[in-house]
Amino acid sequence: MIDVLLGLQWGDEGKGKIVDYLADNYDIIARFQGGPNAGHTLYVDGNKVVLHTIPSGVFQTHCLNLIGNGVVIDPVTLQGELKKIIPICPDLLSRLFVSQRAHLILPTHRALDAASEAAKGLDKIGSTLKGIGPAYMDKTGRNGLRVGDVLSKNFKEKYTKLRDKHTQMLRQYDHVVDWEQWEAPFFEAVEELRKLNIVNGEYWLDAHLKNGKRVLAEGAQGSMLDIDFGTYPFVTSSNTIAAGVCSGLGVAPSRIGDVYGITKAYCTRVGSGPFPTELFDETGEALRKAGNEFGATTGRPRRCGWIDLVALRYAVMLSGVTKLIVTKADVLDQFTPVKVATGYKIDGTETKEFPYEMSESTVLEPVYHTFENWGEPISGIADYQGLPQVFKEYCTFVEQYLETKIAYISNGTGRNQLIKIN
Ligand code: GDP
Ligand code: IMO
Ligand code: MG
Repeated sequence: MIDVLLGLQWGDEGKGKIVDYLADNYDIIARFQGGPNAGHTLYVDGNKVVLHTIPSGVFQTHCLNLIGNGVVIDPVTLQGELKKIIPICPDLLSRLFVSQRAHLILPTHRALDAASEAAKGLDKIGSTLKGIGPAYMDKTGRNGLRVGDVLSKNFKEKYTKLRDKHTQMLRQYDHVVDWEQWEAPFFEAVEELRKLNIVNGEYWLDAHLKNGKRVLAEGAQGSMLDIDFGTYPFVTSSNTIAAGVCSGLGVAPSRIGDVYGITKAYCTRVGSGPFPTELFDETGEALRKAGNEFGATTGRPRRCGWIDLVALRYAVMLSGVTKLIVTKADVLDQFTPVKVATGYKIDGTETKEFPYEMSESTVLEPVYHTFENWGEPISGIADYQGLPQVFKEYCTFVEQYLETKIAYISNGTGRNQLIKIN
């Protein structure tokens, strides 16, 4: 069986920390979508590490790690990550596997991302500018280059053909990007990519599953950034929900076991787009400060607000979440009251359904349920019984609304700051 772990909000729910913890129970961790737009933070012996392409199981030395076919890989970013991690994880290369079907991000994909965002002006997505959108466009447009191509003799020819296509496209934009400087590092990184364990990911996983190995699929981004069900067009370019696991790794739906869905005890978003429970006042500012809400990939300040059960229930439904994980509960220690959105009033009518669109002309007002602050810090608490009564009521409320049990509560950045409940 293959279990899944994914974010239920707009990303940055704490996936890296939780995968690193849960990896203890798994033999293989596999990324199935996204690329270096992801920034997954974990702490190894007290030192902060941010992973972008490499699965978050690498620090558990018994774990193999697969970068699946659904991922888009920038060889330069991958190389940079390897350089940082190998000194603290010397056997990493023997435990890292890359699907030959994963698509490559070229320097000109990054240039196209930048030019396209600049052309959008105020309507920009707020992309991480890592070339994600253009790389997935080439994949679905059937022009892309894949990891397997770096092994072929005519890779340079294939590259040049696609690059020239991109340079023609770039001429349509006023925004000039000096992408030529990125070509030499790209080819150096491609040389390194060739040396990695490049595998036929779907057969590789099938063989391991048949041997009884336990696999955890690690999501990137979050459900509300899903290309189909997120707040389109302010989304990323892949399926971030559980459905993405099957196409992003080549596994059948019948093999999916538990689906862990992660939510912060509040909510954040980085980049543009709708965010119904966003706080523009000093409480939002205080959440950013208390939660240290600055992007792990771009350093941008994250927008902050209250937890949104309408959006969460939608995400739980889309992925069939079986186990909830609530992170950053400690951050709410100093907030009173704590609010939880249970509905939206849209042009005066209340709904519990996540709408198709939230345009600027729609008046959307969240309906809140309010909790008083729990009264004592929860960051030092190690078991459920020891948690403050009001916080337990908050948990029960969330479980009842989402009709899903909470399995873990995370109350700090450390690997072991995690309370197991169910
Ligand atoms: P990811 O993209 O989902 O892996 O999340 P990020 O790494 O981008 O952002 C999560 C941030 O919250 C990281 O800085 C983590 O170290 C931190 N974090 C994770 N869990 C907790 C928690 O329970 N409490 C606190 N205070 N911080 C946490
Ligand atoms: P992790 O895995 C938070 C956001 C960007 C932008 C939109 C599109 O760390 O949770 P893209 O670069 O994909 O074209 O950007 O999606 N975004 C993320 N926000 N966490 C992420 O990843 C994100 N990856 C992309 O900010 O709004
Ligand atoms: Mg992140």
